[in-house]
Amino acid sequence: MRGIILSGGHGTRLNPCTKVTSKQLLPVYNRPMIYYPLNTLIKAGIKEILIIIAPERAGDYLNLLGSGKQFGVKLTYEIQDSPKGLPEAFILGENFIDADDVALILGDNIFEDDLSSEIQSFKNGGKIFAKAVPDPERFGVVEVDANFKAVSIEEKPTVPKSNLCITGLYIYDARVIEVAKNLTPSARGETEITDLHKWYLERGELEVSQVKGEWIDAGTFDSLLAAQHLAKEKLQNKLVI
Ligand code: TTP
Repeated sequence: MRGIILSGGHGTRLNPCTKVTSKQLLPVYNRPMIYYPLNTLIKAGIKEILIIIAPERAGDYLNLLGSGKQFGVKLTYEIQDSPKGLPEAFILGENFIDADDVALILGDNIFEDDLSSEIQSFKNGGKIFAKAVPDPERFGVVEVDANFKAVSIEEKPTVPKSNLCITGLYIYDARVIEVAKNLTPSARGETEITDLHKWYLERGELEVSQVKGEWIDAGTFDSLLAAQHLAKEKLQNKLVI
């Protein structure tokens, strides 16, 4: 399995801090934010990782992470000229993915859980990681049956059918490349990862894994602060890099 970290975007909600650097390079306690999703992939044994970055920040990422040799992995980089949606990761990553399975993680998503066995047990189709939250209407929401099989998926529903939000870690087989190429942008002008989930859901091939520990999307000042505390208090002895 290959890994992709999507680490572009504007980071407007963290202005002015993101005016001169990338959100995912801001410190989360004692490491740059991207180290946390990188830890999630490296711990799961993924050795080839593509980092997708905005053109104006590319040099910073190279300076920080380089070839990845120091972490025992191979890092490669792709530029995303403008943030056109999460599924673009699979189009930019087409040659990198080739015919492999691929785990995509967002560069600002921090997981307390060790998800290695859930990542390694992926067989085919798609797998998403859901977390019970008090405010699911802010996220993509997955409804599951008694066996935790996906029943429906909705993007930011006014009346959510469950409290399970879809976190920023997704695993797909290589068919995802063609599916991503055929998506049409939504009203906000971006392609939506929800549409990829739905493609696999419609074929009965979407697995849902529950995230038990804390999960933080560190894209706002309050969630960034929460991430700092999580990192200091609970993650220090779990990090491999
Ligand atoms: P967001 O947090 O939704 O967007 P953003 O990082 O640009 O922040 P803001 O809304 O404050 O402007 O993106 C989620 C993650 O995905 C984040 O790590 C950035 C990344 N991303 C890309 O790299 N490319 C894209 O096209 C999109 C939509 C997101």
